[in-house]
Amino acid sequence: MQAMETKIVRIKEDHEEKWIEEAGQILKNGGLVAFPTETVYGLGANALDEEAAAKIYSAKGRPSDNPLIVHIADFSDLEKIVEEVPEEAKKLADAFWPGPLTMIMRKNEKVPYGTTGGLETVAVRMPNHDIALKMIRAGGGFIAAPSANTSGRPSPTMASHVAEDMNGKIDMILDGGSVGIGLESTIIDLSEEIPTILRPGFITQQMLADVIGRVEIDAALIDNNSKVHPKAPGMKYRHYAPKANMILIRGEKEKVAQKIKQLVEEELKEGRKPGILCAEETAHLYPEGMIKKIGTLREELTISRHLYGALREFDEEKVSSIFSETFETPVLGTAIMNRLMKAAGHQLIEV
Ligand code: TXA
Ligand code: MG
Repeated sequence: MQAMETKIVRIKEDHEEKWIEEAGQILKNGGLVAFPTETVYGLGANALDEEAAAKIYSAKGRPSDNPLIVHIADFSDLEKIVEEVPEEAKKLADAFWPGPLTMIMRKNEKVPYGTTGGLETVAVRMPNHDIALKMIRAGGGFIAAPSANTSGRPSPTMASHVAEDMNGKIDMILDGGSVGIGLESTIIDLSEEIPTILRPGFITQQMLADVIGRVEIDAALIDNNSKVHPKAPGMKYRHYAPKANMILIRGEKEKVAQKIKQLVEEELKEGRKPGILCAEETAHLYPEGMIKKIGTLREELTISRHLYGALREFDEEKVSSIFSETFETPVLGTAIMNRLMKAAGHQLIEV
C-alpha cells in the first residue's frame, strides 16, 4: 500500500464541528477515519461501499473472511440494512443502545458482502460516544469499523495506539482521549433460534437475559479445548496478543505471587527479561521494576481500561515473557479473562 499522510486531530469542544465535518467528507469519499468509542478505537469506512470496506482489510492486514461491525447513530437506520428487525433487537436496543452491545441479524441487499466477509448476516452497533455518533452521521450513517489496530495486536484504547499501528495507512485519526471500557463490545447473535453470545463484553449474559429471557454462550467460548469453531470468525485468531510469551497464574493471591516469583527467577537466571501484570492490591508482593499495576480490584473498569495498553507497553519494553494474575471481577471478569486467555494462547497455571 502507498504511504499517505495521516491527519491526527485532537477533538476539543471549540472546534469539534470542523473536524467532524472533514471526517464525514473523507468517509463519504471512500476514505478511512479512526475514531474513539466507549469500548476501543474503531477504524471507520463507509459500510455500504465495498471498495471503502476493502481498504480497512488492507490497512489492518486483516483476513477478508472476518466480517466488520456496522456502526449506526440512529435506531431508525437499523431497518434500512437488515431483512427485518427482530423483537429481541428492539428490546435490547431500548435497554443498551447507545452502548457496548453488537447485534447480529440477517442483512438485506444494501449491505455488500465485502463488509460482512461473505456472510448473509450483519453485525450492528450504536456506540455510546458523542464524537463517534456525530462522525457516523456526518459520514452517511453506516460506518463499518473494526478495532483500529493492526490485525493480531491489542486493540487501541488511546489515539497514540492507533497512530502506532495506522500512521501512513489511513486518512485521519480523531483523538478523543482515552476510552472508558477498554474491551470490545459484547456480541449477541440474533439470527438463529436462540440468542447466543459470540464475544463477552461489558453487557453480560445476565443483563441480556433480564431483557429477552434465554441467552446462550457460543460453545467455543466455554470449552477452550473443544474442536468447536467460534461463530464469530474474529474469535478464532490468536488475537489481542503481546509479542512476549504470556502465562496466567490463578489461585489464592499469596500462592499466585509465590509461583510468579519463582517463574521470574527462572527467567532471570536464563538472562531473559520477564514482566508481571498485577492488581494494585497485590503489587507489594512482587519485585518492583518488573510489574505493571493495571488497576484496582475495587473498580474493575480501571482494569479493563488499562489491559491492552499494558500489553502494548510490555511490547515496547521488549520483555521476554509476561506472568499475569487473573482478574475474575464481578461484571467484566468474563470479558477480561476471555481476552487474557487469548493473549496467553490459553496458557494457565492453577496453584
Ligand atoms: O467494541 C467494538 O465492537 C469495537 C468498536 C470499534 O466498535 N469493534 C470491534 O470490531 O471490536 P472487530 O472487527 O475488531 O471485531 C468484530 C467481531 C469479529 O470477531 C467478527 O468476526 C465478529 O465481530 N463479527 C462481525 N460480523 C459478524 C457476523 N455477521 N457474524 C459473526 N461474527 C461477526
Ligand atoms: Mg478487533
